[in-house]
Amino acid sequence: MKIAVLPGDGIGTEIVAQAIRVLDALDLPFEMETALVGGAAYEAHGHPLPDATLKLAKEADAVLFGAVGDWKYDKLDRPLRPEQAILGLRKNLGLFANFRPAICYEQLVDASSLKPELIAGLDILIIRELTGDIYFGQPRGRRTAVDGHFPGADEAFDTMRYSRPEVERIARVAFEAARKRSKRVTSVDKANVLETFQFWKDIVTEVGKEYPDVELDHMYVDNAAMQLVKAPKKFDVIVTGNMFGDILSDEAAMLTGSIGMLPSASLNASNQGLYEPSHGSAPDIAGKGVANPLATILSAAMMLRYSLNQEDAAQRIETAVKKVLAQGLRTPDIYSAGTTKVGTVEMGDAVLKALA
Ligand code: NAI
Ligand code: MG
Repeated sequence: MKIAVLPGDGIGTEIVAQAIRVLDALDLPFEMETALVGGAAYEAHGHPLPDATLKLAKEADAVLFGAVGDWKYDKLDRPLRPEQAILGLRKNLGLFANFRPAICYEQLVDASSLKPELIAGLDILIIRELTGDIYFGQPRGRRTAVDGHFPGADEAFDTMRYSRPEVERIARVAFEAARKRSKRVTSVDKANVLETFQFWKDIVTEVGKEYPDVELDHMYVDNAAMQLVKAPKKFDVIVTGNMFGDILSDEAAMLTGSIGMLPSASLNASNQGLYEPSHGSAPDIAGKGVANPLATILSAAMMLRYSLNQEDAAQRIETAVKKVLAQGLRTPDIYSAGTTKVGTVEMGDAVLKALA
């Protein structure tokens, strides 16, 4: 098993270092190789995603990614900006399924803006399609309207579009993921108004017949947005399109209250994946040794689960993280009165100890 390790910029190097220590401690047959990406790669090679880095990522079974970006690159031409590296990796690896779990750890229940009883024990997984929908559909552009409410006026338009194979493959990913969880999938659409999403709903229903052990229901996106804040624990796996998924995954992330805890995964058709914390490079705290490494450590657990077929090891990490939280250890971003403040490395130390 080969892991490409791309720490990137800012706190990226600090948090990935802790995740590597945790992976090393599992004593599994990994080969890990590190390469530059983002601003660090730009400084060394003049490009945020050098060929050697891309080659390493393509050859690996999984990519463990830290974060990229810094304000000091804001004046660079867009193709040279650090953030282009992540877009280039998504495109070149064919990553189409974005996994965003929203888990509320018992000990952090106060961090949420919702009432504790609504989110205590929350454990949902949003699966967002990444390649299709209105974000990429052609045609798009600006023109002079020939019809509509204001003929002759300037107008802009985008095209919402999904192909059958795109919907089939994301539906399968969702059903497979649900099989490893509570065996329930909610497909979120807007089939009452949009032909694209009636098509989506029909295909998800068809694919669902291949998974009789998984319970499927459908929900309109406006209702899903309400239910996520009203009764989020009713969901298990949510699968939806690119745009609805963009919005709902951010909404769900905030239920848990704390960006330093949220992992993510993006998978392709061969379960090769890129794993990264949901947050960025946090230049404001970089180099201070206070960044929370848990989102990255939990991303490594997702990597073990989804790309490396090591469910036991994934659960070992997740259990260790819960243990450390139960011990009251907190980096400053999740600190509250009565707990013990620790830095990045100390948090890594504690996870290692809890693993042993
Ligand atoms: P950010 O997520 O880096 O930071 C937002 C706030 O959360 C900051 O106050 C930061 O200190 C805090 N924070 C983030 N992660 C934390 C952690 N692990 N522990 C403790 N506190 C944490 O978002 P921001 O500030 O908007 O962007 C900073 C840079 O990161 C920009 O260059 C942006 O483009 C880039 N970025 C990169 C991403 C990626 O690599 N996938 C994703 C999002 C942003
Ligand atoms: Mg978003």
